[in-house]
Amino acid sequence: MSDSIPKGTRVVVAVDGPAGAGKGAVCRAAAVRFGLAYLETGALYRAVGLIAARAGQEDPESLARAAATMPFAYRALGEGRYGAFLGEEEVTLALRAEAVGQMASRVAALPEVRAALLGFQRRYGHGQNLILDGRDVGSVVWPDADLKIFLTASLEERARRRAWELQARGEAVNLTELISRMAERDARDAGRAHAPMEAAPGALVVDTTELTLEASCQAVIDRIAPLLGRS
Ligand code: DC
Repeated sequence: MSDSIPKGTRVVVAVDGPAGAGKGAVCRAAAVRFGLAYLETGALYRAVGLIAARAGQEDPESLARAAATMPFAYRALGEGRYGAFLGEEEVTLALRAEAVGQMASRVAALPEVRAALLGFQRRYGHGQNLILDGRDVGSVVWPDADLKIFLTASLEERARRRAWELQARGEAVNLTELISRMAERDARDAGRAHAPMEAAPGALVVDTTELTLEASCQAVIDRIAPLLGRS
C-alpha cells in the first residue's frame, strides 16, 4: 500500500456514504464530543475540482500534479467549525458550491488524482484519534479503521437536505434538478473503476432517512464511545 502509515494505538473512525447523508454533521459532532481530529476528505476532491474549474481544463496529468502540490490545509476553527484553505485563501464556502461538487465527482474518477491525494489523507492528524468522512475511507484510505460506518439516506431526503443547505446560502434551488444531479453524482461515485463509493467490508450501515440530525449524531456517537472507553 503506497503512503502507508501505521495506525498504532490511536482510534480511527471511517464514515463513508453518498452526498447529503449527514456525514459532515455527524463527524463534526463526534469530533467535538470526543476531541478527535476530523478530515472531510471530500474537501480535497472539491479543492481539485475548484482548481480544474478555475483553470477551465480537466487534463488528468495536470490535475494530478495540482492535487499533489496544491497548498491545501484543513483546520479546526473552534466551536465545531472547520475551514479549508488553499494557501492563504479560505475556500470553505467556495468548495460547497453545487458546481464544484459536480466537478469534484468528475476529477475523483481519475486514478491519478486519487493516488495523489492518498498520502495527505493517511498522514492527516498523525498520532491523534481521528474521524474521516468520504466515499472510500473504510475501503481504501483506512481499511484497518476501528469503526467503519456507511451513512446513507434515500435520494429524495438527501436532495431535500441539500436544497435547504443551498437555500440557506441564498442559492436558487430546483428540487427536481437537484435530485437528478445527485443521482448522476451517486452513479458516477459508485460506478467508477477506482475506489468506488461502497460500504466497506464490516461497515455498519446507518440509514438516516427517518432520523433527525440529533438522532443520526447520537447513533454514531454511541458506537464510538466504547472504543474510547467513554460513555
Ligand atoms: O463528500 P463530498 O460531497 O464533499 O465529495 C465531493 C466529491 O468528491 C464526491 O462526489 C466524490 C468525491 N469523493 C471521493 O471520490 N472520495 C472521497 N473519499 C471523498 C469524496
